[in-house]
Amino acid sequence: MAELEFISDHAGRESQIVRLFGDSFAAADGPEEGRLIETVVQDLLQATAPDDLFVFSALENGAMVGCIVFSRLRYDQDPRTVFILSPVAVRTDRQRQGIGQKLLAFGLCELRARGVDVAITYGDPNYYAKVGFKQVSTDVAPPPLPLSMPHGWLAQSLSGPELEPLSGPSRCVAGLNKPAIW
Ligand SMILES: CC(C)(COP(=O)(O)OP(=O)(O)OC[C@H]1O[C@@H](n2cnc3c(N)ncnc32)[C@H](O)[C@@H]1OP(=O)(O)O)[C@@H](O)C(=O)NCCC(=O)NCCS
Repeated sequence: MAELEFISDHAGRESQIVRLFGDSFAAADGPEEGRLIETVVQDLLQATAPDDLFVFSALENGAMVGCIVFSRLRYDQDPRTVFILSPVAVRTDRQRQGIGQKLLAFGLCELRARGVDVAITYGDPNYYAKVGFKQVSTDVAPPPLPLSMPHGWLAQSLSGPELEPLSGPSRCVAGLNKPAIW
């Protein structure tokens, strides 16, 4: 029986993580997208201050089968702590078996325990609704760059019942500051 384990420490696993993202996105969206995400993840892991980054992984019998990255989103005029979830990947041969949802639930629980107030993400509303994200307007959560798919802009409060509007503007970390991924 395969044993699934969720971990919060990514030290020493950087190359496995970059490969996992590259392979999963290449399989889903083509080789160019795979290379783009590899660069994004490499930059996130290398150039983000430790306080501004959370990387959660799913290991199966010690092998990396899923990974999610949260990085700080700064709203200088708002006192709340906000993190954005991006990107998310599950190894191609282990997709659609619930690993992504379990890893997301684990990561959000860790963020809550560490006092993060708001989680934001940008993706398929149906997929992320299963772990509590709801569509929000760019007035409620001003994005750091213009969105090409505003219907995929999603958020949830981790510290209160409803998300009150965040006071913008916002700034993402350098690794996500690339118009091609927004
Ligand atoms: C998207 C992804 C992370 C989902 O992880 P996963 O472990 O396969 O997802 P789960 O098994 O936990 O998902 C459960 C449900 O989510 C939905 N779902 C799963 N993959 C989906 C996808 N690619 N698109 C839309 N919905 C999806 C399904 O409704 C699924 O339920 P079902 O089995 O009844 O159909 C994974 O497919 C992946 O790595 N894809 C390539 C990279 C990518 O697109 N990442 C997301 C953008 S950052």
